[in-house]
Amino acid sequence: MSTRTVGIVGAGNMGRSLVTRLVAAGHTVLVTDHGAEHAQTATSGPDGQPLALARAATLPEVLSAEIVVLALWYPHTVDLATAHRQELTGKIVIDISNPLDDTFTRVDLPGDTSGAERLAAAVPESRVVKAFNTLPAPTLGAGAIDGTPLDCFVASDEPEAKMEVLQLLEGSGLRGLDAGSLDNARVLERLTAFGIELGQRYGLGFDFGFKYLPTEQLTPIVPT
Ligand SMILES: NC(=O)c1ccc[n+]([C@@H]2O[C@H](COP(=O)([O-])OP(=O)(O)OC[C@H]3O[C@@H](n4cnc5c(N)ncnc54)[C@H](OP(=O)(O)O)[C@@H]3O)[C@@H](O)[C@H]2O)c1
Repeated sequence: MSTRTVGIVGAGNMGRSLVTRLVAAGHTVLVTDHGAEHAQTATSGPDGQPLALARAATLPEVLSAEIVVLALWYPHTVDLATAHRQELTGKIVIDISNPLDDTFTRVDLPGDTSGAERLAAAVPESRVVKAFNTLPAPTLGAGAIDGTPLDCFVASDEPEAKMEVLQLLEGSGLRGLDAGSLDNARVLERLTAFGIELGQRYGLGFDFGFKYLPTEQLTPIVPT
């Protein structure tokens, strides 16, 4: 397993949980946020001490990482990437967004697009990968529910970038699954909205996750 340097923009609910999973996999993580204290908190352990593999960083430092995760709401994802298009050229940019409406149970975009595709259209020189969006922040932080590791669906039109993100997940406690091309983000974003609706119906809140059965490690037999 090779370790990477990952930059995260946004140290909110998801940014913090992403740090947990990426550090668990042995990656170095740089985090930036509007609020410097949020980035400090996200890169500290439960004892308040800084984590060995994570630290708060400036936006330029984060954007210079090998892989950049935009842990921001749509369309702030698109706004930030557009403003930093040059720095992100050639990089893997991971989109975790769910462009939800006020109910959180519906996607607020037409059915023929997705937050990830809008991001890819805004920064065509970047290699946009959809990942992590089906994992609610609390369960992403935990990595498993009732002892069952959760799945992370990874979709992209860039096969090598997708493979790199699947490799990034090794050792994270999540099972990465090749979810095909980037237009499958339309499904993945709606899947999350559906999960939230079920979570509301059954009183689970955001304590849910998705598992594609069987649970064993799966190897794709068609090209990515
Ligand atoms: N929460 C979940 O369970 C969940 C699950 C799956 C996917 N997602 C997706 O993950 C994304 C983030 O969700 P979240 O719940 O983590 O949101 P959040 O808690 O609001 O965190 C976003 C953080 O990013 C900061 N931020 C905003 N614009 C920034 C910028 N330009 N530069 C630096 N920092 C900036 C925000 O600071 P300010 O508050 O000061 O603006 C905030 O601290 C969303 O797209 C959401 O759809 C969320």
